[in-house]
Amino acid sequence: MQTLRLSADATGLARAADLLAQGQCVAIPTETVYGLAADARNAEAVARIYQAKGRPSFNPLIVHVADIAAAEALADLDPQARLLAERFWPGALTLVLPLRADSRIASLVTAGLPTIGLRVPAHPAAQALLRASGAPLAAPSANASGRISPTSADHVLDPQGGLDGRIAAVLDAGPCPVGVESTIIGWPDGRATLLRPGGIAAEEIEAALGQPLAAHHGDPSAPSAPGQLTSHYAPNAPLRLNASPRPGETHLGFGQPGPFSLSDSGDLTQAAARLFDLLRRADEFGRPISVAPIPDHGLGAAINDRLRRAAAPRD
Ligand code: TXA
Ligand code: MG
Repeated sequence: MQTLRLSADATGLARAADLLAQGQCVAIPTETVYGLAADARNAEAVARIYQAKGRPSFNPLIVHVADIAAAEALADLDPQARLLAERFWPGALTLVLPLRADSRIASLVTAGLPTIGLRVPAHPAAQALLRASGAPLAAPSANASGRISPTSADHVLDPQGGLDGRIAAVLDAGPCPVGVESTIIGWPDGRATLLRPGGIAAEEIEAALGQPLAAHHGDPSAPSAPGQLTSHYAPNAPLRLNASPRPGETHLGFGQPGPFSLSDSGDLTQAAARLFDLLRRADEFGRPISVAPIPDHGLGAAINDRLRRAAAPRD
């Protein structure tokens, strides 16, 4: 299969919507990372996502919709969910909600769970595509399973382990502004719970709810704690965390202007936006990688989560 690179203009968007209607997979820009999208009501199209990514099929996918009304057609929003949706959508927040019986979502999307992960993306190209296609779009990050998430169309098509030749097209809208995946909130035991730190700081969500979020406990590799596979986002090179630079290593840090600076000014939002691209570049450099300590507040929590997975022991 030859993978088309489409620009995010009217022609490219129409072509992408067409391919999705035909049951093909298209990589699409969102404000967090590029997603590999397919019509969530079409089981065969969704199966193509798993196939292209080589993803374990027990891992459920996030479904993207244009607005809260479209979310309500698929899931039940209780008052807390509604409050978060109104405050943070469109944006980098995924809510895991009870799936409606009449949703028509392919069960492969939810891996048979009674819940569904929903997100209204803010990226203008994602919004335009959702409106042009009219379909709810299942879209995990557009990388091969276990690899670093893509924050540009070039990452999606990377000849080393990317999806070139495995998907119909990529809609190219340049780099993703947030750079780490969405924050995931669910209510597994009735309490609002942080399932994955991400592009919206947990502190902001707690402020909106007026209460602390419960922490997620459980076996990180169990299917009931999806996406929490321990080794994930993995570069090929060994990775040391909370590290000072050593000779012979590529060091990612703060306040050291140069090609591997996460942020010259120590800005965690800028560091999140650069993180995956820098990890890829450092990996291409071929030397062991070390990363300076990252403050664990705000977007630092999401950065540290991704770095721990990148450094985790591999099979
Ligand atoms: O920013 C993002 O969230 C990106 C962009 C493309 O939207 N998407 C993304 O998808 O990161 P993915 O598939 O790489 O991660 C989805 C996470 C996984 O941990 C998955 O298991 C979890 O969401 N998830 C999806 N549906 C769920 C459900 N019903 N219950 C629990 N977790 C769910
Ligand atoms: Mg992913």
